Amino acid sequence: MKEKILNILTTSGKDNIISGVYISSLLGISRVAVWKHLKKLKQEGYDIKSSSRGYQLRNSNDLLFPFCFKNQGSTIHYFPRIPSTMDIAKKMARNNKTPHLTVVIAEEQTKGRGRLKRIWNSSKGGLWFSIILRPNLPPPFSFKVNFAASISLVRTLNKLFKINATVKWPNDILLNEKKLAGLLSEMETKGDMISFVNIGIGLNVNNFPEKHEPNAVSIRTFIGKKVLRKKILSCFLNDFEKQLKGIYHKNIIKIWKKYTSTIGRKVKIETYGEISEGVATDVDDTGSLILKQKNGITKKIIYGDCFYKKI
Ligand code: BTN
Repeated sequence: MKEKILNILTTSGKDNIISGVYISSLLGISRVAVWKHLKKLKQEGYDIKSSSRGYQLRNSNDLLFPFCFKNQGSTIHYFPRIPSTMDIAKKMARNNKTPHLTVVIAEEQTKGRGRLKRIWNSSKGGLWFSIILRPNLPPPFSFKVNFAASISLVRTLNKLFKINATVKWPNDILLNEKKLAGLLSEMETKGDMISFVNIGIGLNVNNFPEKHEPNAVSIRTFIGKKVLRKKILSCFLNDFEKQLKGIYHKNIIKIWKKYTSTIGRKVKIETYGEISEGVATDVDDTGSLILKQKNGITKKIIYGDCFYKKI
């Protein structure tokens, strides 16, 4: 019922102000019931203004509600404020009935998390979501899904905003050397196959991440105006869905190399308790970074945090 009310508030009325009487007649429920649902929605964080003329949902042109993605192949779940989309996605994915490509979106996360146990600042205006994937792959191939997600994201952003974002190994999206987006993945297996891989994406869109993190940027700060998050999500999901088809046979790393700015760069790689430095000479077919160190010895790095050294 709450979703139906949100749908009405978004799609009809002059100035989008709708009277309680109108809502109750459309939905066949009492005005008191309408009032109760609206009160709950406000408590959940929806920006609904009440006046003598009725109710108005504010900031409604960039909503991320499920009904805003009608033609999408994905099932969308939207939450105004939750600790982390990763937690909800994990719970849902453990239920075998949750389909491949289910998306969990949050307007705001109170405990957003990043790679290597870092905090991910997730204030309003960004695009914070997790996708539940059930690729037909054995666990050692899960890297393909992560790299495919960063390709789809960078491709979507460059196409929509005519920017030149790149991927920094393994999955950060950079714009002008600053972090625009980060990807995080969590996987569970069943027997010798992946049961699910959840990919969490944090994309700085209309927020101002540089307030907390000087090396971060948002699309809004970069291009100087607000942009529509639902358009980004919708284009990304379309691209990603196509890419995932037949992923087992695709050379994802070869495609990824077209979008990366890492190969050829002087880098510092931090893993738990170890720092390596050198030139990133390649990324092999399993997604590992090949580092040529100062002493001439080549090292293969499976995971870690990569920092570019000044050119
Ligand atoms: C990183 O670069 O460290 C990865 C950041 C991933 C952040 C996203 S926001 C949506 C999803 N929910 C989380 O708590 N984290 C991921």
